[in-house]
Amino acid sequence: MTRALVTVIGAGNVGATAAQRIAEAGLADVVLVDIVEGLPQGKALDLAEAAPVVGHDMRITGTNDYAETAGSDIIVVTSGLARQPGMTRDDLLAKNAGIVRSVVQQAVAHSPDAIIIVVTNPLDAMCHVALDASGFPPERVLGMAGVLDSARFRTFIAQELGVSVTSTHAFVLGGHGDTMVPLPRYSTAGGVPITELLPPERIEALVDRTRNGGAEVVALLKTGSAFYAPAASVTQMVDAILGDRGTILPCAAYLRGQYGVEGLFVGVPVKLGGGGITEIVEIELTEGERVAFERSAAAVRELVASMERMKGPQTAPAEG
Ligand code: APR
Repeated sequence: MTRALVTVIGAGNVGATAAQRIAEAGLADVVLVDIVEGLPQGKALDLAEAAPVVGHDMRITGTNDYAETAGSDIIVVTSGLARQPGMTRDDLLAKNAGIVRSVVQQAVAHSPDAIIIVVTNPLDAMCHVALDASGFPPERVLGMAGVLDSARFRTFIAQELGVSVTSTHAFVLGGHGDTMVPLPRYSTAGGVPITELLPPERIEALVDRTRNGGAEVVALLKTGSAFYAPAASVTQMVDAILGDRGTILPCAAYLRGQYGVEGLFVGVPVKLGGGGITEIVEIELTEGERVAFERSAAAVRELVASMERMKGPQTAPAEG
Protein backbone atom coordinates (compact mmCIF):
# COMPACT_ATOMS: atom_id res chain seq x y z
CA MET A 1 0.00 0.00 0.00
CA THR A 2 1.44 3.39 -0.94
CA ARG A 3 1.51 6.14 1.64
CA ALA A 4 -0.05 9.51 1.00
CA LEU A 5 2.29 12.31 0.01
CA VAL A 6 1.89 15.96 0.99
CA THR A 7 4.04 18.70 -0.53
CA VAL A 8 4.46 21.79 1.60
CA ILE A 9 5.76 24.77 -0.35
CA GLY A 10 7.51 27.33 1.83
CA ALA A 11 9.74 25.93 4.57
CA GLY A 12 9.21 28.93 6.82
CA ASN A 13 7.30 29.08 10.08
CA VAL A 14 3.91 27.87 8.84
CA GLY A 15 5.30 25.38 6.30
CA ALA A 16 7.83 23.69 8.57
CA THR A 17 5.38 23.51 11.48
CA ALA A 18 2.70 22.03 9.21
CA ALA A 19 5.23 19.49 7.92
CA GLN A 20 6.03 18.53 11.49
CA ARG A 21 2.39 18.12 12.49
CA ILE A 22 1.44 16.16 9.36
CA ALA A 23 4.37 13.76 9.71
CA GLU A 24 4.12 13.37 13.48
CA ALA A 25 0.39 12.66 13.19
CA GLY A 26 1.33 9.86 10.78
CA LEU A 27 -0.86 11.31 8.05
CA ALA A 28 1.59 11.28 5.14
CA ASP A 29 5.14 11.51 3.89
CA VAL A 30 6.06 15.15 3.44
CA VAL A 31 8.21 17.01 0.91
CA LEU A 32 9.21 20.51 1.99
CA VAL A 33 10.06 22.93 -0.82
CA ASP A 34 11.56 26.39 -0.63
CA ILE A 35 13.35 28.82 -2.92
CA VAL A 36 16.17 29.21 -0.37
CA GLU A 37 18.82 26.56 -0.86
CA GLY A 38 19.51 24.42 2.19
CA LEU A 39 16.51 25.67 4.19
CA PRO A 40 14.02 22.89 3.29
CA GLN A 41 16.81 20.28 3.33
CA GLY A 42 17.99 21.39 6.77
CA LYS A 43 14.53 21.53 8.32
CA ALA A 44 13.54 18.20 6.75
CA LEU A 45 16.69 16.54 8.09
CA ASP A 46 16.07 17.96 11.55
CA LEU A 47 12.44 16.77 11.45
CA ALA A 48 13.51 13.31 10.21
CA GLU A 49 15.95 13.06 13.09
CA ALA A 50 13.13 13.76 15.53
CA ALA A 51 11.16 10.80 14.15
CA PRO A 52 12.89 8.06 16.20
CA VAL A 53 12.13 9.99 19.39
CA VAL A 54 8.55 10.79 18.44
CA GLY A 55 8.10 7.29 17.04
CA HIS A 56 6.84 7.67 13.49
CA ASP A 57 8.10 6.38 10.16
CA MET A 58 6.91 9.12 7.83
CA ARG A 59 9.54 10.24 5.32
CA ILE A 60 10.32 13.95 5.38
CA THR A 61 12.48 15.35 2.63
CA GLY A 62 13.50 18.87 1.68
CA THR A 63 14.26 20.15 -1.79
CA ASN A 64 14.43 23.13 -4.14
CA ASP A 65 13.40 20.91 -7.06
CA TYR A 66 9.71 20.31 -7.83
CA ALA A 67 10.51 17.00 -9.55
CA GLU A 68 10.84 15.54 -6.04
CA THR A 69 7.23 16.48 -5.25
CA ALA A 70 5.83 14.29 -8.05
CA GLY A 71 2.63 12.40 -7.32
CA SER A 72 1.57 14.47 -4.31
CA ASP A 73 -1.98 14.01 -3.03
CA ILE A 74 -2.04 17.46 -1.46
CA ILE A 75 -0.04 20.62 -2.15
CA VAL A 76 0.04 23.12 0.70
CA VAL A 77 1.08 26.60 -0.42
CA THR A 78 2.67 28.69 2.34
CA SER A 79 5.37 30.40 0.29
CA GLY A 80 5.38 34.15 0.34
CA LEU A 81 6.19 37.05 2.52
CA ALA A 82 4.74 37.05 6.02
CA ARG A 83 2.92 40.13 7.21
CA GLN A 84 5.10 42.54 9.18
CA PRO A 85 3.80 44.96 11.84
CA GLY A 86 2.01 47.87 10.24
CA MET A 87 1.62 45.99 6.97
CA THR A 88 -1.91 45.00 5.94
CA ARG A 89 -2.64 41.73 4.21
CA ASP A 90 -3.46 43.77 1.14
CA ASP A 91 0.05 45.26 1.00
CA LEU A 92 1.30 41.79 0.27
CA LEU A 93 -1.00 41.30 -2.66
CA ALA A 94 1.19 41.84 -5.70
CA LYS A 95 4.30 40.23 -4.29
CA ASN A 96 2.62 37.09 -3.05
CA ALA A 97 0.46 36.73 -6.19
CA GLY A 98 3.64 36.37 -8.24
CA ILE A 99 5.09 33.82 -5.84
CA VAL A 100 1.91 31.75 -5.59
CA ARG A 101 1.42 31.69 -9.36
CA SER A 102 4.98 30.53 -9.90
CA VAL A 103 5.01 27.77 -7.27
CA VAL A 104 1.57 26.43 -8.18
CA GLN A 105 2.48 26.15 -11.86
CA GLN A 106 5.63 24.22 -11.01
CA ALA A 107 3.97 21.96 -8.45
CA VAL A 108 0.91 20.97 -10.49
CA ALA A 109 3.12 20.04 -13.44
CA HIS A 110 4.32 17.13 -11.29
CA SER A 111 1.08 16.42 -9.37
CA PRO A 112 -1.84 16.93 -11.75
CA ASP A 113 -4.35 15.16 -9.47
CA ALA A 114 -3.50 16.93 -6.23
CA ILE A 115 -5.71 19.05 -4.01
CA ILE A 116 -4.30 22.50 -3.30
CA ILE A 117 -4.60 24.12 0.13
CA VAL A 118 -3.62 27.78 0.00
CA VAL A 119 -2.31 29.45 3.15
CA THR A 120 -0.42 32.46 1.76
CA ASN A 121 -2.08 35.82 2.43
CA PRO A 122 -4.10 37.69 1.38
CA LEU A 123 -5.79 34.33 1.44
CA ASP A 124 -8.93 34.68 -0.64
CA ALA A 125 -7.08 36.50 -3.44
CA MET A 126 -4.28 33.93 -3.43
CA CYS A 127 -6.89 31.18 -3.88
CA HIS A 128 -7.93 32.89 -7.12
CA VAL A 129 -4.31 32.90 -8.27
CA ALA A 130 -3.92 29.20 -7.41
CA LEU A 131 -7.16 28.26 -9.21
CA ASP A 132 -6.09 30.15 -12.31
CA ALA A 133 -2.47 28.96 -12.28
CA SER A 134 -3.39 25.30 -11.70
CA GLY A 135 -6.29 24.98 -14.12
CA PHE A 136 -7.78 22.62 -11.52
CA PRO A 137 -11.53 22.32 -10.92
CA PRO A 138 -12.64 24.54 -8.01
CA GLU A 139 -13.37 21.58 -5.71
CA ARG A 140 -9.62 20.84 -5.68
CA VAL A 141 -8.50 24.35 -4.69
CA LEU A 142 -9.34 25.71 -1.25
CA GLY A 143 -7.98 28.11 1.30
CA MET A 144 -7.13 27.74 4.98
CA ALA A 145 -8.67 30.60 6.93
CA GLY A 146 -11.95 29.62 8.53
CA VAL A 147 -10.50 26.77 10.58
CA LEU A 148 -7.98 29.22 12.04
CA ASP A 149 -10.51 32.01 12.57
CA SER A 150 -12.96 29.67 14.28
CA ALA A 151 -10.15 28.17 16.38
CA ARG A 152 -9.37 31.67 17.61
CA PHE A 153 -13.04 32.32 18.36
CA ARG A 154 -13.25 28.98 20.23
CA THR A 155 -10.17 29.85 22.28
CA PHE A 156 -11.72 33.14 23.40
CA ILE A 157 -15.14 31.54 24.10
CA ALA A 158 -13.49 28.84 26.23
CA GLN A 159 -11.44 31.40 28.17
CA GLU A 160 -14.49 33.61 28.73
CA LEU A 161 -16.67 30.77 30.00
CA GLY A 162 -13.92 28.84 31.79
CA VAL A 163 -14.70 25.67 29.85
CA SER A 164 -12.61 23.23 27.84
CA VAL A 165 -11.88 24.30 24.28
CA THR A 166 -13.05 20.85 23.28
CA SER A 167 -16.57 21.75 24.48
CA THR A 168 -16.72 24.72 22.14
CA HIS A 169 -17.70 25.04 18.52
CA ALA A 170 -17.51 28.21 16.47
CA PHE A 171 -18.85 29.30 13.14
CA VAL A 172 -17.08 31.91 11.03
CA LEU A 173 -18.02 32.99 7.52
CA GLY A 174 -16.65 35.43 4.98
CA GLY A 175 -13.23 36.53 3.82
CA HIS A 176 -10.10 36.16 5.95
CA GLY A 177 -9.68 39.72 7.03
CA ASP A 178 -11.22 42.52 8.93
CA THR A 179 -14.62 41.80 7.36
CA MET A 180 -14.85 38.17 8.50
CA VAL A 181 -18.27 37.24 9.86
CA PRO A 182 -18.28 35.25 13.10
CA LEU A 183 -21.78 33.81 13.73
CA PRO A 184 -22.47 33.79 17.49
CA ARG A 185 -25.86 32.06 17.18
CA TYR A 186 -24.11 29.01 15.64
CA SER A 187 -21.19 29.20 18.07
CA THR A 188 -21.68 26.97 21.08
CA ALA A 189 -20.33 25.72 24.37
CA GLY A 190 -21.57 22.23 25.23
CA GLY A 191 -24.00 22.54 22.33
CA VAL A 192 -25.62 25.69 23.79
CA PRO A 193 -25.40 28.83 21.61
CA ILE A 194 -23.21 31.48 23.24
CA THR A 195 -26.06 33.94 22.69
CA GLU A 196 -27.75 32.07 25.60
CA LEU A 197 -24.65 32.14 27.76
CA LEU A 198 -23.08 35.58 27.38
CA PRO A 199 -24.37 39.16 27.21
CA PRO A 200 -24.23 40.81 23.76
CA GLU A 201 -21.39 43.17 24.72
CA ARG A 202 -19.13 40.29 25.80
CA ILE A 203 -19.91 38.42 22.58
CA GLU A 204 -19.09 41.55 20.60
CA ALA A 205 -15.73 41.81 22.41
CA LEU A 206 -14.89 38.17 21.56
CA VAL A 207 -15.94 38.68 17.95
CA ASP A 208 -13.75 41.77 17.71
CA ARG A 209 -10.77 39.93 19.14
CA THR A 210 -11.34 37.11 16.63
CA ARG A 211 -11.41 39.58 13.73
CA ASN A 212 -8.12 41.04 14.92
CA GLY A 213 -6.65 37.67 15.91
CA GLY A 214 -3.88 37.72 13.31
CA ALA A 215 -2.90 41.30 14.03
CA GLU A 216 -2.80 40.63 17.79
CA VAL A 217 -0.15 37.94 17.30
CA VAL A 218 1.81 40.06 14.79
CA ALA A 219 1.88 42.96 17.25
CA LEU A 220 3.37 40.70 19.93
CA LEU A 221 5.87 38.83 17.76
CA LYS A 222 7.01 41.97 15.95
CA THR A 223 9.05 39.95 13.44
CA GLY A 224 6.50 37.65 11.87
CA SER A 225 2.98 36.32 12.00
CA ALA A 226 1.15 33.43 13.62
CA PHE A 227 2.18 29.92 12.70
CA TYR A 228 1.29 27.34 15.35
CA ALA A 229 -2.48 27.69 14.97
CA PRO A 230 -2.28 28.12 11.18
CA ALA A 231 -0.19 24.93 10.89
CA ALA A 232 -2.60 23.02 13.15
CA SER A 233 -5.49 24.22 10.97
CA VAL A 234 -3.78 23.03 7.79
CA THR A 235 -3.21 19.65 9.41
CA GLN A 236 -6.90 19.26 10.24
CA MET A 237 -7.77 19.94 6.59
CA VAL A 238 -5.13 17.44 5.40
CA ASP A 239 -6.57 14.86 7.79
CA ALA A 240 -10.11 15.45 6.50
CA ILE A 241 -8.98 14.97 2.89
CA LEU A 242 -6.63 12.01 3.31
CA GLY A 243 -9.06 10.25 5.63
CA ASP A 244 -11.96 10.99 3.24
CA ARG A 245 -13.80 12.01 6.36
CA GLY A 246 -16.45 14.40 5.12
CA THR A 247 -15.49 16.79 7.91
CA ILE A 248 -17.47 20.02 7.81
CA LEU A 249 -14.97 22.85 8.13
CA PRO A 250 -15.08 26.53 7.24
CA CYS A 251 -12.75 27.00 4.26
CA ALA A 252 -12.24 29.52 1.48
CA ALA A 253 -14.16 27.93 -1.39
CA TYR A 254 -14.99 29.07 -4.91
CA LEU A 255 -18.68 29.96 -4.92
CA ARG A 256 -20.79 29.51 -8.01
CA GLY A 257 -24.11 30.93 -6.93
CA GLN A 258 -24.08 29.62 -3.35
CA TYR A 259 -24.86 32.32 -0.80
CA GLY A 260 -25.77 34.50 -3.79
CA VAL A 261 -22.10 34.86 -4.78
CA GLU A 262 -20.80 34.07 -8.25
CA GLY A 263 -17.18 33.31 -9.16
CA LEU A 264 -15.47 34.28 -5.91
CA PHE A 265 -13.52 32.58 -3.10
CA VAL A 266 -15.18 33.32 0.23
CA GLY A 267 -15.11 31.47 3.54
CA VAL A 268 -18.06 29.09 3.91
CA PRO A 269 -18.66 25.73 5.58
CA VAL A 270 -17.68 22.89 3.26
CA LYS A 271 -17.66 19.13 3.46
CA LEU A 272 -14.04 18.03 3.00
CA GLY A 273 -13.21 14.56 1.78
CA GLY A 274 -11.05 12.56 -0.60
CA GLY A 275 -11.97 14.62 -3.64
CA GLY A 276 -11.48 17.94 -1.89
CA ILE A 277 -14.65 19.96 -1.43
CA THR A 278 -17.47 17.46 -1.85
CA GLU A 279 -20.20 19.91 -0.85
CA ILE A 280 -20.64 23.57 -0.01
CA VAL A 281 -22.94 23.72 2.99
CA GLU A 282 -25.49 26.50 2.72
CA ILE A 283 -27.19 27.83 5.82
CA GLU A 284 -29.89 30.44 6.22
CA LEU A 285 -28.52 33.81 7.24
CA THR A 286 -30.36 36.51 9.13
CA GLU A 287 -30.62 39.90 7.45
CA GLY A 288 -27.74 41.30 9.52
CA GLU A 289 -25.52 38.30 8.81
CA ARG A 290 -26.29 38.48 5.10
CA VAL A 291 -25.33 42.15 4.97
CA ALA A 292 -22.05 41.39 6.79
CA PHE A 293 -21.37 38.42 4.49
CA GLU A 294 -22.02 40.52 1.40
CA ARG A 295 -19.72 43.24 2.70
CA SER A 296 -17.04 40.62 3.23
CA ALA A 297 -17.54 39.17 -0.28
CA ALA A 298 -17.35 42.69 -1.72
CA ALA A 299 -13.99 43.21 0.02
CA VAL A 300 -12.65 40.02 -1.56
CA ARG A 301 -14.03 41.05 -4.95
CA GLU A 302 -12.28 44.41 -4.63
CA LEU A 303 -9.00 42.67 -3.77
CA VAL A 304 -9.29 40.40 -6.80
CA ALA A 305 -10.12 43.39 -9.00
CA SER A 306 -7.08 45.33 -7.78
CA MET A 307 -4.96 42.25 -8.42
CA GLU A 308 -6.29 42.15 -11.98
CA ARG A 309 -5.43 45.84 -12.38
CA MET A 310 -1.91 45.23 -11.11
CA LYS A 311 -1.30 42.43 -13.58
CA GLY A 312 1.93 43.12 -15.40
CA PRO A 313 5.50 43.54 -14.18
CA GLN A 314 4.54 43.53 -10.50
CA THR A 315 2.90 40.11 -10.65
CA ALA A 316 5.44 38.54 -12.99
CA PRO A 317 6.28 35.07 -11.69
CA ALA A 318 8.97 35.09 -9.04
CA GLU A 319 11.93 32.82 -9.61
CA GLY A 320 11.89 29.29 -8.32
N1 APR B 1 9.24 29.60 -3.82
C1 APR B 1 9.35 28.84 -2.70
N2 APR B 1 9.41 29.36 -1.47
C2 APR B 1 9.37 30.69 -1.36
C3 APR B 1 9.24 31.54 -2.48
C4 APR B 1 9.18 30.94 -3.75
N3 APR B 1 9.06 31.67 -4.87
N4 APR B 1 9.21 32.82 -2.04
C5 APR B 1 9.30 32.78 -0.70
N5 APR B 1 9.41 31.49 -0.28
C6 APR B 1 9.57 30.97 1.07
C7 APR B 1 10.55 31.78 1.91
O1 APR B 1 11.88 31.49 1.58
C8 APR B 1 10.16 31.37 3.32
O2 APR B 1 10.96 30.28 3.78
O3 APR B 1 8.35 31.05 1.80
C9 APR B 1 8.70 30.93 3.19
C10 APR B 1 7.74 31.76 4.00
O4 APR B 1 8.01 31.54 5.34
P1 APR B 1 7.93 32.67 6.48
O5 APR B 1 8.57 33.90 5.97
O6 APR B 1 8.41 32.04 7.75
O7 APR B 1 6.36 32.98 6.55
P2 APR B 1 5.25 32.18 7.38
O8 APR B 1 5.12 32.75 8.74
O9 APR B 1 5.49 30.72 7.24
O10 APR B 1 3.95 32.61 6.58
C11 APR B 1 3.74 32.15 5.26
O11 APR B 1 1.36 32.10 5.47
O12 APR B 1 -0.03 32.80 7.19
C12 APR B 1 0.50 33.13 5.94
O13 APR B 1 0.61 35.54 5.96
C13 APR B 1 1.37 34.37 6.00
O14 APR B 1 1.56 34.61 3.64
C14 APR B 1 2.22 34.18 4.80
C15 APR B 1 2.42 32.65 4.72
